[in-house]
Amino acid sequence: MVATLLHILVGFSKMADDKRKERTFIMVKPDGVQRGLVGEIMKRFEARGYKLVGCKMCQPGAEHLKEHYVDLKSKPFFPGLIEYMTSGPVVAMAWEGTDAVKQGRKMLGETKPLESQPGTIRGDFCIDVGRNICHGSDGVESAKKEIAHWFKEGELMSWTPCEFNWVYE
Ligand code: RTP
Ligand code: MG
Repeated sequence: MVATLLHILVGFSKMADDKRKERTFIMVKPDGVQRGLVGEIMKRFEARGYKLVGCKMCQPGAEHLKEHYVDLKSKPFFPGLIEYMTSGPVVAMAWEGTDAVKQGRKMLGETKPLESQPGTIRGDFCIDVGRNICHGSDGVESAKKEIAHWFKEGELMSWTPCEFNWVYE
């Protein structure tokens, strides 16, 4: 009986632990970098309690960006999107924590900045859809794909922030 209860409790704590390991891919786009908004965007994820597990500045070129946005390749704005995204360095990040993908999208705001709430990153810092300063994965599966596309295995860090037990109950 006690053993069964313990087993159930361990199961629950494992589930909570797994949820806390959800990862999302967030990128500061070339306009965000040019406008000096890297720190502002990172600050919001840090302050929220999410954990940075990967981060690099890079300018990977058209083929890499075409693959990243492959789902949009038939859209009329695709060539302009690739031109925009290859126009300068970006900052690629992986953030970890409970519900990171959905919360990351909420923190970014709507695709169209004019439809974004004040308080969101796009709602606070940009105007045009083609200059919306940041990217966030739209699902757990796409996050996994994007993180694997942008980071090599050794570039992702596994660590425990000292604040962990002050963020999670
Ligand atoms: P992202 O992938 O960059 O986080 O943006 P999102 O999910 O909010 O929107 P998505 O549909 O994936 O579009 C990717 C990026 O393409 C540009 N876009 N331009 N001209 C247009 O109508 C248009 N629509 C989308 C934006 O830069 C958008 O973030
Ligand atoms: Mg998208």
